[in-house]
Amino acid sequence: MIKTIEWTDEGVRMIDQRLLPTEEKYVTLHSCEEVAEAIKTMVVRGAPAIGLSAAMGLALGAKQATGTSVTDLELEFDRLCEMMSMTRPTAVNLFWAIEKMRAEFRRAAADTEDPGTIKQALVAQALKIFREDIEANRALGRFGADLIPDGATVLTHCNAGALATAGDYGTALGVIRGARDAGKRIAVIADETRPFLQGLRLTAWELAKDDIPVTVITDNMAGHVMKGGKVDAVVVGADRIAANGDAANKIGTYMVAVLAQRHKIPFYVAAPVTTLDLSIPSGDQIPIEERDTREVTHVGDRQLGPDGVDVHNPAFDVTPNELITAIITDKGVARAPFIESLQ
Ligand code: MRU
Repeated sequence: MIKTIEWTDEGVRMIDQRLLPTEEKYVTLHSCEEVAEAIKTMVVRGAPAIGLSAAMGLALGAKQATGTSVTDLELEFDRLCEMMSMTRPTAVNLFWAIEKMRAEFRRAAADTEDPGTIKQALVAQALKIFREDIEANRALGRFGADLIPDGATVLTHCNAGALATAGDYGTALGVIRGARDAGKRIAVIADETRPFLQGLRLTAWELAKDDIPVTVITDNMAGHVMKGGKVDAVVVGADRIAANGDAANKIGTYMVAVLAQRHKIPFYVAAPVTTLDLSIPSGDQIPIEERDTREVTHVGDRQLGPDGVDVHNPAFDVTPNELITAIITDKGVARAPFIESLQ
């Protein structure tokens, strides 16, 4: 099993995803601030993994807080939650996890005057989020496996695997692993996913580790392989799904969805219900992160673009619900009209 993140007595331990696949290096983060920085700089990335990291970071921050009263601890915890909420704007799992930890603080504080008891409750809550994410993606994988025919070739975009979650199955890759574990023969086409190359670096690495056949293409080849009849289904993850089913995911996903519709290929979104944001009616309200231009002009330290060129680097886009065949969750498969089925 790929271990993405774990809680240790020393701190939050995680694999540095910026170095994969050439280096499998684990780092231990010793403060909530270090965890927040790891989310911002994409040491860890992927919606559920971001949420889980935030929960563990907050538990660590609370554990290290020096306040001797519940009020002191609450002030510090609020400050940490505020800091954590400023890391990345699009993945709703981050805000879901922060609210889960805040609710646990309130619940524990209602029963005790002892800060130590609250600190333990927060660690327990973070570990519960870890376990539930693993279970949810196994369930999602089983539901999704039924939708994938034996012998299918599935195209995926970005990395929605073990590395993007608590570990183990993942979401979109959970559907692929679920089909494999259901005895189906399955092959994958992975978009490289410029500019951060999550498909080339992370998805190909994961699937090779699992002996699942994978072929990497550049993002602009997706239309050609679909037109050539090489793709039987598309399965992608999500960072936030609105009440009407519009889904935000890695930049380029919308393009793949339009191509899939053109070639009558089923387009599935796989995500646990922790990625649903039913508080917003449509995808128009999903905040889209704009990341550093250097991600586009450089590969590592190698500069590719001319000095000072203008660059636009939105990290996500929104696929409208009409292009989505079904949304595969840990609670079942939702189909249009999503406004009803997601509820
Ligand atoms: O910028 P990233 O790498 O955090 O973007 C990740 C994605 O878009 C994933 O597809 C999404 O978070 C789903 S992860 C299960």
